[in-house]
Amino acid sequence: MKKRIAIYPGTFDPLTVGHQDIITRACRLCDELYVLVAAGHHKQTLFNLEERNHMVKKILQEMRLPITIHSKPFSGLLIDACHEVDAKIIIRGLRAVSDFEYEMQLAAMNRHLDGLIETVYLMTAENLSFISSTMVKEVAKLNGNIDRLVHPYIKKQLKKRVCH
Ligand code: COA
Repeated sequence: MKKRIAIYPGTFDPLTVGHQDIITRACRLCDELYVLVAAGHHKQTLFNLEERNHMVKKILQEMRLPITIHSKPFSGLLIDACHEVDAKIIIRGLRAVSDFEYEMQLAAMNRHLDGLIETVYLMTAENLSFISSTMVKEVAKLNGNIDRLVHPYIKKQLKKRVCH
């Protein structure tokens, strides 16, 4: 049987425990997963693409996931990134109703571009649904506690970046 290859794209500026939860659960749905770190031309990021990809790679190594998992930077169209790794599944997390409209548009556009690639949505764990990378950065900047929001390595990088 053909391997089920999925991608999980995002800006990951930075990766949070909410993203880690989605990655862990996505592993149950596919045989191989690519976490695709977007160049993020649509956002002004705190960490550059290389830094974000490095952080994702490091955390994935520590997570000891049961399937083959890669992290990879990407720019350009998501559908082209899918073709590049032969993925037929796009994984996205849904946190609240406010995510829904944008996600519907994104899924519809991606389906328009390639009808054989399906977007699969995972509901974010209820206890993590309030987390966003922007909020984590803000709490870090204002010297709040981010211990339960990001991996300790990400916390260290964030503190280094925002504390001067
Ligand atoms: N837990 C915690 N936070 C989560 C989360 C979860 N499970 N799921 C999403 N988020 C947060 C992210 O941290 C991010 O927070 P921020 O806005 O504060 O930075 C926010 O939700 C948005 O998530 P993200 O996955 O980074 O989405 P995005 O909107 O920045 O990017 C891409 C989505 C990269 C997939 C999309 O822009 C894309 O495909 N770009 C390529 C061009 C393309 O093909 N476009 C589509 C056709 S036009």
